[in-house]
Amino acid sequence: MATINANFLKLKAGYLFPEIARRVRAYSEANPAQASRIIRCGIGDVTEPLPAAAVEAMHAGVEELGRRETFRGYGPEQGYEFLRQAIVEHQFEGLGISADEVFISDGSKCDTGNILDIFGQGNIIAITDPVYPVYVDTNVMAGNTGDADAKGTYAGLLYLPCHPANGFVAAVPNEHADLIYLCFPNNPTGAVASRAQLEAWVAYAREHDAILLFDAAYEAFIQDPTIPHSIFEIEGAHECAIEFRSFSKNGGFTGVRCGYVIIPKSVTGSDGMGGRVPLGQLWSRRHSTKFNGASYPVQKAAAAIFSEAGKAQVAALIQHYMGNAKLLREACTAAGLSVFGGVDAPYVWVGCPAGLSSWDMFDKMLSEAQVVITPGSGFGSAGEGFFRISAFNSRSNVEEVCRRLLALLG
Ligand code: MLT
Repeated sequence: MATINANFLKLKAGYLFPEIARRVRAYSEANPAQASRIIRCGIGDVTEPLPAAAVEAMHAGVEELGRRETFRGYGPEQGYEFLRQAIVEHQFEGLGISADEVFISDGSKCDTGNILDIFGQGNIIAITDPVYPVYVDTNVMAGNTGDADAKGTYAGLLYLPCHPANGFVAAVPNEHADLIYLCFPNNPTGAVASRAQLEAWVAYAREHDAILLFDAAYEAFIQDPTIPHSIFEIEGAHECAIEFRSFSKNGGFTGVRCGYVIIPKSVTGSDGMGGRVPLGQLWSRRHSTKFNGASYPVQKAAAAIFSEAGKAQVAALIQHYMGNAKLLREACTAAGLSVFGGVDAPYVWVGCPAGLSSWDMFDKMLSEAQVVITPGSGFGSAGEGFFRISAFNSRSNVEEVCRRLLALLG
């Protein structure tokens, strides 16, 4: 008899975004006349076409694969040198990162989940609340938690509540943790961490011999020049941090798939017998066994993001989405709601009107305004009473969402 990984049975309902899609489908089927009015501001999926530089490079990559003289089969599992080098030069200049510390992948969702492969059992895992659900669910699948309570809080995880009083940036805990997930700019709250706050986390990690799992998928949206884009801007992080980066939100690669992980050689973990092992070595070994690399045309397209034309095109995309975020912030404020995020991040995090839970607000927005938002409680129990609006949309859709919001609540 084949037994299953029973940890999966501890997972709550469906993964958040498919669950939202299911509810939207059910609403559309029951209300066909309204279905065409629906505007989706739920999942943070880009809407604007790929930068032209990426499209050209991808075409060129495909052409190369179509000619005998330039055909390539399997690429290096860790990524092509041309892309690893471009990342170092354009994203980590002066930060002491070398190309062999960059590992290319098919995206950050996979990386932040798969990273658990290289860590042992029994680590104390700290997670902010609310949080990107992938961090929690993958720890549940890996057997790093007990059961969830009625609010969806798992036994065995160290939750770090984030709320208006701490600006949605968790302070370092008094307790010990071995692995700490941090995401800045934050998904879902849109909060950013100051240099001093990140310094405190690096100091904590070094004192506790812990590893920071730093998700910087939204770094390109930072507007404030004082906010660090990378954890490696903080002294000491090269001994205690792993950083996740993505081309999804800056280059619009959500459907193309490409991301990367930075693991400095000086980041090590304990082998439990008094020895230390570089984590990059384990991640590289894992890649070689379980992954055959992102495709060549995709890596060509990713590298083109760093060309002069590519950079200008990405800047225009960021400006477009941040313009949307500004409009959404203004509309929610005018509707009398408390508004967070949306300044250095493409997510606007909003307090629900008095008396409404996150899912009540989701239902109200869907049934009365035909706008899909994400209920804050889907990101953890501390997200209850909030909802998230994604700024990834066309300008005309966002303007319409603002009009409907004001008509509904204003
Ligand atoms: C989100 O909406 O939180 C993101 O799109 C999810 C993701 O990037 O996987």
